[in-house]
Amino acid sequence: MQYVRVNESSAEKIKRKLLRSALFDSNRSVKHSPSYVYFPILSISRNRIKKLLEGSGASLVEGKPERTLQKRKSYSDMLKEVTTKKQYESMSRSYDILGNIAIIAKRDKLMGKEKELARVIMRIHPNVKTVVAKGGGISGKFRTREFSHVLGKRNFNAVYKENGCIFGFDVRKAFFSNRLAFERSRITRLVKEKEKVAVLFAGVGPFAIEIAKMHPKASVLAVELNPHAYDMMKENIALNKVKNVTAVKGDVNRIPRKFYRFADRIVVPMPTASTAFLDSIFRIAKRTAVVHLYSFVKLESMSSDVTKRIQEHAKKNNYRAKVLFTRKVTPYSHGDIEMVVDYRITKK
Ligand SMILES: C[S@@+](CC[C@H](N)C(=O)[O-])C[C@H]1O[C@@H](n2cnc3c(N)ncnc32)[C@H](O)[C@@H]1O
Repeated sequence: MQYVRVNESSAEKIKRKLLRSALFDSNRSVKHSPSYVYFPILSISRNRIKKLLEGSGASLVEGKPERTLQKRKSYSDMLKEVTTKKQYESMSRSYDILGNIAIIAKRDKLMGKEKELARVIMRIHPNVKTVVAKGGGISGKFRTREFSHVLGKRNFNAVYKENGCIFGFDVRKAFFSNRLAFERSRITRLVKEKEKVAVLFAGVGPFAIEIAKMHPKASVLAVELNPHAYDMMKENIALNKVKNVTAVKGDVNRIPRKFYRFADRIVVPMPTASTAFLDSIFRIAKRTAVVHLYSFVKLESMSSDVTKRIQEHAKKNNYRAKVLFTRKVTPYSHGDIEMVVDYRITKK
């Protein structure tokens, strides 16, 4: 380890010089002896440092670090400090961050330690201004869930950035999952320059807006039934300054006729029911189109159930279907997983 050794009397001057030249190693501590101060420096060329020290009376020396500066405490260390071993081991410690809002598990999974957990999360993530706890599972056709306020500002409006876009929404009134960020980026990268893309079950617009932003010459149709999610999607379209998304409020099964035969690509991010909407896909698909279908499936059967249904619906609608890609998206619960199947349909 390299140090600059200097007399007490010149120490301040040399320190300033090292800081100005960005040579001071702030991760190691300064050492002292009765007559010298030792400043830790980053390992760089000896000639450069010698030149810098010329005529100053300071010199370059090798030495062992006295002690490294204390590492920042980890999330688990901080949490262990405010819980008993039993509480720590039994409580649900995972959380999601949607910009300014952190979401923790239902209170009954937190061993009465929700405030402590929230405090630790807010210390680790200074951008988090509010911590809310899940009130139950995702339910209903709008796929929403209840939340209760735990700590910080009493606010349920998230402002969340993902893949270069920004989304605002009330976490209680619209579905949003940051766990789909990779999928949104994957699909966005597959879209071609002037494609026409339909996003069914569009929510507050993340798939549609990310695609539109990266492909300004593409045309994106985004269909959403939940009025709040639809309103937020409109605001998010404006917020991200995308001009190529047409938002439609309504049921995927009642898409306006003018969008029949519209799409080169169709994204169907509604895993609880997407196979029930398979016929609507053929109404808006061109003679050839690529579909990205998200579904919950049993782990053991994986894609086989879904691909069977895809084939059945293609046949019924006089199309051929060819599976291009499958991927496990997120674990769901007890043997069920969310998966995506990418497939091409071609009119017979
Ligand atoms: C699982 S969420 C997906 C939201 C969004 N694509 C995302 O990635 O965040 C499904 C969305 O479909 C909407 N929805 C449910 N049934 C619908 C229907 N029949 N037609 C259109 N949208 C529907 C829900 O309100 C919800 O916003």
